[in-house]
Amino acid sequence: MKVTVSRRAHFNAAHRLYRKDWSETKNNAVFGKCNNPNYHGHNYELIASVTGNIDQETGYVMDMKVLKQIIKTEIEDAFDHKNLNLDVPEFKTLNPTAENIVVIIYNKIKAKLESHLDLEITLYETPRNFVTYSG
Ligand code: NI
Repeated sequence: MKVTVSRRAHFNAAHRLYRKDWSETKNNAVFGKCNNPNYHGHNYELIASVTGNIDQETGYVMDMKVLKQIIKTEIEDAFDHKNLNLDVPEFKTLNPTAENIVVIIYNKIKAKLESHLDLEITLYETPRNFVTYSG
């Protein structure tokens, strides 16, 4: 009997979407305002959903205190109030699109979960634009 438990989290971060090997015209055409050379911020919201069997002893899929701490250490401490392009090593050579950010978040959290648990991450870049990755 598989159950999914979810926790919502939040971080503010700046980014710029561009490719060094493209002209300014092409970067503006593809990335629009997100190519602003001076960066801009988003209020990112994420939902981490963990699916697994209910432990017969505890009645938990996983201890939510543990999930909360993993999200804090791996995501909030690493990304909150950071410039993703400049401050976060994963994005030194990777465009920090919502798609790429959600994959990085998934990989960081998944590595800290017990291996029998499945993970899905939904990342909101704006209230209306969001992406989902589950491996
Ligand atoms: Ni943006």
